[in-house]
Amino acid sequence: MSHPTEPSATPPAFGSPLDGARSLASAVLGRRREDSRAAAADAPDAPTSRPRVIVMANQKGGVAKTTTTLNLAVALAERGHRVLAIDLDPQGNLTMSQGLDPDVVDPSMYHVLVEGRPIRDVTHAAEVDVAAASIDLASAEVAMASMIGRERALERALRAVADDYDHVCIDTPPSLGLLTINALTAADRVIVPVQAEYLSLRGLAQLRQTVEMVREHLNPRLRIEGILPTLLDTRTVHAQEALELLEEHFGDQLFVTRVRKTIRFAEAPVRGMSVLRYDPDSRAAQAYRDLAQEVLRP
Ligand SMILES: Nc1ncnc2c1ncn2[C@@H]1O[C@H](COP(=O)(O)OP(=O)(O)OP(=O)(O)O)[C@@H](O)[C@H]1O
Ligand SMILES: [Mg+2]
Repeated sequence: MSHPTEPSATPPAFGSPLDGARSLASAVLGRRREDSRAAAADAPDAPTSRPRVIVMANQKGGVAKTTTTLNLAVALAERGHRVLAIDLDPQGNLTMSQGLDPDVVDPSMYHVLVEGRPIRDVTHAAEVDVAAASIDLASAEVAMASMIGRERALERALRAVADDYDHVCIDTPPSLGLLTINALTAADRVIVPVQAEYLSLRGLAQLRQTVEMVREHLNPRLRIEGILPTLLDTRTVHAQEALELLEEHFGDQLFVTRVRKTIRFAEAPVRGMSVLRYDPDSRAAQAYRDLAQEVLRP
């Protein structure tokens, strides 16, 4: 197992796995302040009329990207904001979680990205507006590979609806391929849902590098809005330790909101609903309202 930083004081062979996470987190942390300075220098001060585009990204699967996209979008809509949620994952989970069938949806985000169809053509009114994915999207990366400006297809598509929304929330697949790069290129902010466990922390450095690469070459506006601990089971020692690591190394980048593990999140999509609609008074719904409040804080 190689670490991208100087070896820690404890020899790896005898250290706990958490030492690996510590040194990895330090590598990421080392660039954090520089990172926010660069972002501050690049961020335009003047408010614009364009929507704030927020991407949920983490190449690790099953960390609640889709759950966060939908429930954050609905929490923002509850507060009176106009929200578009975009499903950029060929799995179509966001599309399904609003009761739409990705096997039937046509046209879909594939046609927006590859054929330049207007995003309005694939947008369905649900709890929030949803730009739907279908399984075709799996072939979009290959189809886009030879396109000029392939990283900017989503950014271009969003221009046409810039006046219609206050926020655009984008769900991405568990990879850092061209679909995720398109999302990051169109975005202002990235939210990184992370499951509070050791193995989940290891992917953060790679994600960080991708964000920096996109900022450098494609989109100087891009900033990490925050890291969101999800699927938290506070009863386990392991989750507590992983959370402590996150707090230690990403303190000022961690959201205050923590999303606990509850079966409500698995139940709601089966009904084609957000948790905020399925069980409005639950702690689960409240967590995403809290997140929305954090996101809106100036
Ligand atoms: N706080 C939570 N408590 C319990 N289950 C949750 C929670 N958040 C999400 N889940 C469930 O965990 C599973 C994975 O969540 P989700 O689909 O949002 O992750 P993802 O990161 O989008 O996955 P993928 O990488 O495959 O797209 C889903 O079944 C979801 O219902
Ligand atoms: Mg998903």
